[in-house]
Amino acid sequence: MDTMEPAAKRDLLSTEDLDNDSVGNLLELAAHMQHRGPQDQLKGKTLGLLFQDPSLRTRVSFEVAMIQLGGSAIVLSSATDVYAFEAESQTVMDGVAEEHVKDAARTLSRYVDAIGLRAAIRTGNWEEDRTDALLRAYSQYASVPVVNLQSHMHHPCQALADIFTMRQECGDLAGKTLTLAWTQNPEPQSLGAPHSLALLAARMGMNVKVTHPQGFELDGEIMDSARAHADETGGSIQVMHDLEEGARGTDFVYARSWRSLGAYADPDRELLLKRSLDHWKITSDILALGNNAWFLHPLPVRRNLSVTDDVLDGERSLIYDQAENRLHTQKALLVSLM
Ligand code: CP
Repeated sequence: MDTMEPAAKRDLLSTEDLDNDSVGNLLELAAHMQHRGPQDQLKGKTLGLLFQDPSLRTRVSFEVAMIQLGGSAIVLSSATDVYAFEAESQTVMDGVAEEHVKDAARTLSRYVDAIGLRAAIRTGNWEEDRTDALLRAYSQYASVPVVNLQSHMHHPCQALADIFTMRQECGDLAGKTLTLAWTQNPEPQSLGAPHSLALLAARMGMNVKVTHPQGFELDGEIMDSARAHADETGGSIQVMHDLEEGARGTDFVYARSWRSLGAYADPDRELLLKRSLDHWKITSDILALGNNAWFLHPLPVRRNLSVTDDVLDGERSLIYDQAENRLHTQKALLVSLM
């Protein structure tokens, strides 16, 4: 009699769910898949994708990934396709939420082979929202793998593609310098991408210069984890409040706006903070301070507000490689999870 237990399902909620070997294997598999045509490893498999927030790259790259692997994807977007979800257990559901995550996740698990989720409960309180309660409830109740497509705290699929892109240019990233630069944007943006990249870059042994104006600090626990990774790998994490200083001598300038945690859920206060920050823009002069630096941005980007056209369209820009590499790294991820 076969007494083997079925393998436990694996989720990707943050880059911390992947050990170093898994990261290395995924990046290797992605490099292999990049140069192969359509495959049928996921024939007959279906990926369910839930989007509460807009997306171009994540949505299209996951759908195309499934098609190229012989499977299919079903996309549910916005409040018109799905109910408002309740994530708390044993609660009386007398609020706006029509469906408990327990029921949604268990039902979807009967239909699809993995679930991708870009959705979050917004309480207006960072201490609550930073727990990514909706995502974690999906992970708890779904019997199929759950992939984070960007949450309050993490964007692991973006970070995998970012690291893959930088390795394509420079090979081993240990000892290379990455400037993670805050840039101007009128809208409060997710911390997911900068958090995930800081964590993963530190694990690659990179020297990460987190460069932002006062008041735009990354989450403290993420910074502690990134420093712990850097201590293990020989990398480093520095915080700087001057864009020119951050860019000087760097190998990669990675631009992204992120919200102020001090003004969390208070867009008027955040706008006030940003009033004098228009110089937090990546220009060719800023890029030129680096060591023949490459430029990265996860997109979408506010042209000429966050980054000038000549940088985005210049020969050191990797922005479309990054976007393309979402496809290759996610194909590797999907094959490994399903
Ligand atoms: N970088 C990224 O996640 O892009 P989308 O928001 O378009 O998916």
